[in-house]
Parts: sequence; structure tokens; C-alpha cells
Amino acid sequence: MAQDNEAISTQMRAGLRRLAKAVVVITTKKDGQRHAMAATAVSELSMDPPSMLICVNKTASMHPVLASGADFCINILDADHMHISAACSGKVKGEARFEIGSWADTSIDIPRLDDAQASFVCRQTQQITYGSHSIFIGDVVEAFSSPVVDPLVYVDGRYTRVGPDIVADAA
Ligand SMILES: Cc1cc2nc3c(=O)[nH]c(=O)nc-3n(C[C@H](O)[C@H](O)[C@H](O)COP(=O)(O)O)c2cc1C
Repeated sequence: MAQDNEAISTQMRAGLRRLAKAVVVITTKKDGQRHAMAATAVSELSMDPPSMLICVNKTASMHPVLASGADFCINILDADHMHISAACSGKVKGEARFEIGSWADTSIDIPRLDDAQASFVCRQTQQITYGSHSIFIGDVVEAFSSPVVDPLVYVDGRYTRVGPDIVADAA
């Protein structure tokens, strides 16, 4: 028997708890005002041209800024940056979110997190609205990465980091 909408929603939410994602902070800027938001719904899109996409809820305070065409930066958080994710998804809003963390400027005047695992500075090229969210696509115009790979990971509703490798049993 086909699942009804409620069952699909319940199972989809449960299933997505297994979709481990690196946590990022998306930053943008308009009229001198900086915005930052924790997110996991981001993806690489293409290497030709180098491009990425972000999925932002229409209710998020940065949505109108991005909808107006603002460029953005995707900052992959370090495992020690849980407090930055919390600050960028909580009650503190607007510029006050930048009181935590070390922020640098970029060639297109969008803030980036100086000690992020990686930062991708994107010039916005396209947007698509679907249901509750909009997808914003950007061409990567600057990219930075740290020497050690240790990203903050969100899975099963909690923060963690990447653990030891799985080693195949010797036959
Ligand atoms: C780990 C984590 C991942 C999130 N991922 C997304 C996301 O991909 N897209 C989104 O729109 N909001 C996401 N959120 C929610 C926003 O960070 C949160 O709603 C934030 O407060 C933005 O709204 P505001 O700026 O109006 O407060 C996420 C939050 C957390 C803690």
C-alpha cells in the first residue's frame, strides 16, 4: 500500500537523521550589513564552471538578501566550531552573530571565517524557489582550505566529528 503524506514525512525525517553532513555557515552582505546562518543543505554543483548551491528556508533572515541577488560564502566549520553553528542558528541575529569567530574579508566583500575547514566565495548566478526553500547557485571566485581535515559533522540530530577509518577484515 502506498504511504500517505504523513507517513512519508515521518519516514523522510527519520531517514534524513542518517544523512551525515558537514556543517557550514553561509555568509552574505548587503548595504554594509553582514548575515550568517548555519546550514547543512549545501552541495558542490559543477567544476566547469566551479559552482556550488545552497538551500535556504524562505523564513530565514538572510533569504531576502540572497533573493535580491547578493553573493555568498560557504564556510565549512571545524570540529571545534560547534559554538559558531549554535550562534548562527539561534536567537542572536544579524551583525551580532559575528561577535563569535574570526572573520576575514574577501575579494567580493563577503565575510569568510578565517579558520574554517574551507571557504568557497561565490558570486550568485541563479536562484530557484521550490516549496519552503530557495536554491541559490553561485560560481566560486575564491576558495580556501585548511591543512588538517577535521570538519564539524551533524548526524542523528547531534554534532560529532569524523571517526577512525573502517578497516576491512583480513580474509
Ligand atoms: C546543523 C544545522 C543545519 C541547518 N541547515 C539549514 C539549511 O540547510 N538551510 C536552512 O535554511 N536552515 C538551516 N538551518 C536552520 C538555520 O540555521 C536557522 O533557522 C537560522 O536561525 C536561520 O534563521 P534566522 O537567521 O532567521 O535566525 C540549520 C540549523 C542547524 C543547527
